[in-house]
Amino acid sequence: MTHEEIDSIIERYHGKESAILAILQDIQAKEKYLPKETLEHLGERLHIPSSKIYRIATFFRAFSLMPRGRHEIVVCLGTACHVRGGQRVVDQFTMELGIRSGETTPDWNFTLETVNCLGVCAAGPVVAIDGQYFGKMSSTKVEETLKKFRPGKKEGTNGKD
Ligand code: FES
Repeated sequence: MTHEEIDSIIERYHGKESAILAILQDIQAKEKYLPKETLEHLGERLHIPSSKIYRIATFFRAFSLMPRGRHEIVVCLGTACHVRGGQRVVDQFTMELGIRSGETTPDWNFTLETVNCLGVCAAGPVVAIDGQYFGKMSSTKVEETLKKFRPGKKEGTNGKD
């Protein structure tokens, strides 16, 4: 993201320091992470110490300081999902993709994360990919689910088109 693009986001919020959260959200949405250089530029423009911006960026789970894959897989390991086999689902994603929670595949296509609840416990085990929920997951459904998001597939389709 260029400095001009960052500046235009800042201007959208009238350069207000109080809008730092909203500004970070917009940058995260566009870049999928918060690059170090971007945070430093923000600090200079808004006259906020970089240390404060880093604290905000690391406090909120929605922000990432590391580049993210094109598709974000979030596997729920909350109690309701865990007792129904959530860990086996995570393990299967790890086997299929060769990455653990918090990591990104070398081709930047997938980032794998785990969370403590996705808010739809009755459908557990639950996985969300790019915000699309897949309920009643099992390790045997992982490969088929991933196919929908592999390069060359139309995103979020059932893989038939
Ligand atoms: S525990 Fe998994 S959705 Fe709530």
